Amino acid sequence: MSQTQEEDAGFLRINKLEESGISAADCKKLKDAGYYTVESIAYAPKKALLAIKGISETKADRLLAEATVVIASKVVNLGFTTAMDVHQRRQEIVNITTGSKELDRMLGGGIETGSITELFGEFRTGKSQLCHMLAVTAQLPINMGGGQGKCLFIDSESTFRPSRILSIAERFSLNGEETLDNIAYARAYNTDHQTSLLIQAAAMMSEARFSVLIVDSAMALYRTDYAGRGELAARQIHLAQFLRQLQRLADEFGVAVVITNQVVAQVDGGASMFNPDPKKPAGGNIIAHASCTRLSLRKGRGENRICKVYDSPSLPENECTFSIMEDGISDAVE
Ligand SMILES: Nc1ncnc2c1ncn2[C@@H]1O[C@H](COP(=O)(O)OP(=O)(O)OP(=O)(O)O)[C@@H](O)[C@H]1O
Ligand SMILES: [Mg+2]
Repeated sequence: MSQTQEEDAGFLRINKLEESGISAADCKKLKDAGYYTVESIAYAPKKALLAIKGISETKADRLLAEATVVIASKVVNLGFTTAMDVHQRRQEIVNITTGSKELDRMLGGGIETGSITELFGEFRTGKSQLCHMLAVTAQLPINMGGGQGKCLFIDSESTFRPSRILSIAERFSLNGEETLDNIAYARAYNTDHQTSLLIQAAAMMSEARFSVLIVDSAMALYRTDYAGRGELAARQIHLAQFLRQLQRLADEFGVAVVITNQVVAQVDGGASMFNPDPKKPAGGNIIAHASCTRLSLRKGRGENRICKVYDSPSLPENECTFSIMEDGISDAVE
């Protein structure tokens, strides 16, 4: 990548720090730990850098200082900015189409890039189908409602089906093989593996333009790896770290992060005649705080599904109906 291409991509590669006197060997250590950009260092808590093998206290201080200087001299602002700047930047945020006009409208254009969107609901409510859809629409040009980038798909339940991708690609007259080639797929086997996949994800995102990162499902392996009641605290700590890394990828590379989640029955006697919907998303406040936009899905009649904005920093509480068709997500059928 040339200098200008690098700037266009919106991030600076870690080796840029060599110009500030950080050794290539240290840059390599950082990359091995998943830090591929100068931004990732500047935003890292010092504690996280200290946890990297071969990074001493002095080195960590030096890295943080150099990364901040490099970034301050560039576009990114680590301190205060005006609300007008924030407003302008938010208007530039790309939304990726879901395939349903009504759903897009409710979401203010589609799934937002640069933040985490959580889809939760019971089985067969269309979470995985929506993920397949986004894996394709993420590749469409911006003027077609796409994200003009590749897709990274982490599958923890073995429910990814390339045949679904081919059917959806056909709807947009995309070449099926190319569409599949643009989806980097990984099966996650346990929560440690799922987390370590994000290091590879960062490496890939620094090499090519990705517009969406999907984790379907983010919670499933946590629920099996940490099954006992006594393991809850350990689970939440691990989960928080995983989500924090997802947030970092969203910030650094501007990708839309989409995670799916199951619902669990409320243990605190939530099921009563006053509460007809006693199920809530798994993961507690850890996932609630990490997810920027939370969408709840439920079954409607036939192929129809209902999507509800459960929590969002900018969308009102609202719901709409869409449907699952052979060629992907569409507006509701009567
Ligand atoms: N080719 C297809 N054409 C139309 N509808 C389909 C097709 N494939 C699957 N579906 C629909 O999608 C539904 C499954 O949705 P999906 O797999 O997204 O559920 P989910 O919310 O991910 O559930 P889980 O919690 O079990 O992972 C099925 O009930 C089926 O109605
Ligand atoms: Mg699923």
